[in-house]
Amino acid sequence: MTTRPGAGFGKTLSGLQGIKSIEDFELKDQRVFIRLDLNVPMSGEAGALEITDDTRIRAALPTVKYALEKGAKVILASHLGRPEKDEDRAKFTLEPVAERLGELLKCEVILIEEPNSDAPKALLSGLKPNQLLLLENLRFDVGETKNAPELANTIASYTDIYINDAFGASHRAHATIDALPKLIAKRGCGFLIKKEIENLSGLLAGPAKPFLAIMGGAKVSDKIKVIEKMIESIDTFMIGGAMSYTFLAAKGLGVGKSRVEKDKIAFARELMERIEARGRKVLLPVDHIVADDFLAPTKIETISGESIPEDRLGLDIGPKTRAMYREEILRAKTVFWNGPMGVFEKPEFAKGSFAVAEALAGLVAKGGISIVGGGDSAAAAEASGFADQMTHISTGGGASLEYLEGAKLPGLEALRTVRESAAPSL
Ligand code: 3PG
Repeated sequence: MTTRPGAGFGKTLSGLQGIKSIEDFELKDQRVFIRLDLNVPMSGEAGALEITDDTRIRAALPTVKYALEKGAKVILASHLGRPEKDEDRAKFTLEPVAERLGELLKCEVILIEEPNSDAPKALLSGLKPNQLLLLENLRFDVGETKNAPELANTIASYTDIYINDAFGASHRAHATIDALPKLIAKRGCGFLIKKEIENLSGLLAGPAKPFLAIMGGAKVSDKIKVIEKMIESIDTFMIGGAMSYTFLAAKGLGVGKSRVEKDKIAFARELMERIEARGRKVLLPVDHIVADDFLAPTKIETISGESIPEDRLGLDIGPKTRAMYREEILRAKTVFWNGPMGVFEKPEFAKGSFAVAEALAGLVAKGGISIVGGGDSAAAAEASGFADQMTHISTGGGASLEYLEGAKLPGLEALRTVRESAAPSL
């Protein structure tokens, strides 16, 4: 995740009302449990796993460093992937993460195989200042995803202060996100959650206009709720990626073999009517990069019109669309980008997403705001080389969408210790 210093919306912290910050506690000699989202992508086989993107680890550092500097006895914890059976342990171990954390923090990271035991308590009593504990993948214990009180009780027995900085997992009502903080009187959030909520709340609180939403990715269905929630505030919806073919189909245009959500065509049509009835714009691709096959394309070409021939499938927006989208982005004051414009993982279909990232960097350079939802759009921004020029890139794909949809995130709700109306400002 990146957030440019001094950029963004400033203090729009409504989503954090009633939630204490790590800075509100005296940490010296306290056992401070910090829930992080260190669910990072890895490549390679079990035993030789390598982290391919350590953004989430780096994003967690400010809170961890702060706790160490204040003299806390630090316990870090995270899930990794979705292990289902005992044999998955080698594939989903946090060992590579422990190693990376040790390098970045320049301290000894002790990996605890069994968080649901007395082992952490014993180790914490003799912990040295240059050491910290990292609990092994929380999802190795089925109690984590079941929000089980047993796991929460054990961790509470060796925790004095609970800090949630796992923004990317805060939409999950899991034991260390939901049950555990409710057992600890001294609980609050870390710096990453603060930054995420400041930036996402800024989008909900009436951002500077024109406000543009760039929606891409595979499915319209993933974006329905957020579109519904923000329909009144957004001036222009710019659509790309596979979801644009559902919208083009809704306009009666040919989409060939492109991916279309047939059961969402009627919704897409109605949505365009509602947006236009409010005097706002929907922009769809006016040309495309297409191929004859997705897995083994033998012919990749540019189609200059809106329609895609029957024997072709769309895999990226075309050059005219790139230029048009670029201009529109540079005219905006605030942009929210969620979902790539094409199959950016393959260089031949990455130009659309990279052009969007470049235009967003241009917008920020002239004082505008660009907020990138997590997940695939964050990965596309990284791959484009423009990630460090965005106002903010969220570390949470699902969590950021749910927050913008207006859902209450269990990880935030469990932290509230002060009635919202009487809450001190953070
Ligand atoms: C994510 O990668 O979105 C978070 O770490 C949550 O992971 P999950 O979808 O497996 O709960």
